[in-house]
Amino acid sequence: MKRSGNIVYLDNAATTFPKPREVVNETARCIRQFCGNPGRASHAISMKAADAVFQCRSSLASLFGGKEENVIFTSSATHSLNLGIKSLLHRGDHVLISDIEHNSVIRPISALAKRGLITFDVYEASSDPVTAVGNVSAHLKPNTAMVIACHHSNICNLIQPIQEIGELCRRKGIIFLVDAAQSAGILDIDIDRDNVDVLCAPGHKGLYGIPGSGFVLFGDTAFREERPVSTFIEGGNGVRSLDDSMPDFLPERLEAGTLAVPAIRALSAGVSFVKKRGIKEIERRERELFKLTERGLARFGDIVTVYGDGEAGGILLFSSPAMPSERIAAALDRYGICVRAGFHCAPTAHKRLGTPEEGAVRVSFGAFNTQKEVFYFLNVLDHLLKAGKHL
Ligand code: ALA
Repeated sequence: MKRSGNIVYLDNAATTFPKPREVVNETARCIRQFCGNPGRASHAISMKAADAVFQCRSSLASLFGGKEENVIFTSSATHSLNLGIKSLLHRGDHVLISDIEHNSVIRPISALAKRGLITFDVYEASSDPVTAVGNVSAHLKPNTAMVIACHHSNICNLIQPIQEIGELCRRKGIIFLVDAAQSAGILDIDIDRDNVDVLCAPGHKGLYGIPGSGFVLFGDTAFREERPVSTFIEGGNGVRSLDDSMPDFLPERLEAGTLAVPAIRALSAGVSFVKKRGIKEIERRERELFKLTERGLARFGDIVTVYGDGEAGGILLFSSPAMPSERIAAALDRYGICVRAGFHCAPTAHKRLGTPEEGAVRVSFGAFNTQKEVFYFLNVLDHLLKAGKHL
């Protein structure tokens, strides 16, 4: 089997690659022309950087709803989730998380619970709205303060119905936090329509920015007078410098230190790319490639198991009794095909799907993947699995 000369990148759930040309160009332009420290001075370079930061807040709010000042910049989805969770929870709260969460939710929630600050339960995620709402309802307690839902699983095609879960939370006065790490830029999200109080996302995945960017978008509905917003990090931000406390307004209450201006500029360019292509078109294309891959893998028979349920999504998980997952990924890499094997930082999701002891192989699509790449992947995999342990 001959290796194609090109890289076939099917690890877009980790970070999208390649980045659109306009993202590369805008990042370089920012570094060359206006990479100052925003909000710190009134000179031209600082002001231009501040303008770039404001433009990004504005384009995120126009894509996802909500207000510009409620956009908090972070360095990643993990940072966003930690900030969203820890700035809003209080001692004695009960939290409900789904069984498909990433470690970026499981670990901060477990850490708070181990310190005796909160308690939490896990509900079974479902793509069916009635089942999902029933599963969440069954675990609610009088002190449930927050429900956390991973929108699109990072290991399979399970997509949670956030609008309906959010509607339940809204009725009960519970804060609804959505981990949009795998859905922002791929599935249509509107925090007002979807009843989302806190949206946490990376900038470098479906929004096509570069690593080092992420954000939290709070709805005004996330805030309650009786639940003050805790600071997550303290330090300078150029606002009220004589005060030894962080400001009590957003975004400055939750942002401190020099912002990653080039990554924020890249995110603006990424959002423009997504808007130009259209989220519906990106979603349609990823679903089409998913179905093509799924149909191709079905022809392998018993030698391949595909996991997950619901509609087609942007992420497909499989394993094979013929070869351990890590070896499949390493062998694919020799043919220029990039996938991720193992547990993908999602232990409870793997447990729920019943993947083998060593985990499974994840194939995740992006805006630049083609049908031709899927056929190449299927051909290489067929060759590898037939060769089996001789490799
Ligand atoms: N969370 C990313 C993934 O699932 C890194 O691969």
